Amino acid sequence: MIALIPAAGSGSRMVSVTPKQYLDLAGKPLIWHTLSALVKVAELDRIVVVISPEDEWWGSFDWSEFKRLDVLRCGGASRAESVLNGLHALQGPDDWVLVHDAARPCLDPALVSQMIAELANHPVGGILAVPVADTLKLAQAGQHIAHTHPRDGLWQAQTPQMFRVVQLAHALAIGMGPDITDEASALEKLGLQPKLIMGSPWNLKVTYPQDLRLAELILAAAAR
Ligand code: CTP
Ligand code: MG
Repeated sequence: MIALIPAAGSGSRMVSVTPKQYLDLAGKPLIWHTLSALVKVAELDRIVVVISPEDEWWGSFDWSEFKRLDVLRCGGASRAESVLNGLHALQGPDDWVLVHDAARPCLDPALVSQMIAELANHPVGGILAVPVADTLKLAQAGQHIAHTHPRDGLWQAQTPQMFRVVQLAHALAIGMGPDITDEASALEKLGLQPKLIMGSPWNLKVTYPQDLRLAELILAAAAR
């Protein structure tokens, strides 16, 4: 199975000139940790990173310790476009693809193997996700609460997200738009129902500056 890693974002919410995937996390570029987790997943034959055609950072690091790693300079204007461009560039008879954000460096490899086993015979595929824990408020003008949204049945999507290469490429191509913020949403737009697989609160997406410190603590805890 192939893992496709979208890493072509600019990290605008991180407010840093260097894209967050290359920021220092525990002495290594953030994406190093993401790749380090994925190479431990025995079911993955190849890991393909999608970076921006204008990326000035990837080349300044040595990635030779990671076997089975390829990089494609075909990132697009949105995450969905980066993933679709990457899928088009993939060659080979692979059935499934596992898409994982470069910006999720605290991934537990055992969780990925578990997910692959659980979805092996699934007709659509699925995603890691966690049930929403907080009470949800809908805001109206002036940051006042319009109402409390029932959280029953609500989950927060994570990655990896695992789908069939051909079906995912088709779904992204015809569904492409601002509402497609993960792979599952493209499949849902076709009327399909991806499976929710229990993820981990530790599998955070580094988005804001304070997330770097959190990720560092999680990595240190996992190393014990
Ligand atoms: N991504 C990508 N191509 C894009 C946008 C995002 O490959 N055009 C990747 C990011 O590099 C990241 C993952 O998709 O690994 C999740 O996206 P997000 O956390 O939103 O990262 P950014 O888009 O870089 O950050 P921001 O939204 O704050 O600008
Ligand atoms: Mg983004």
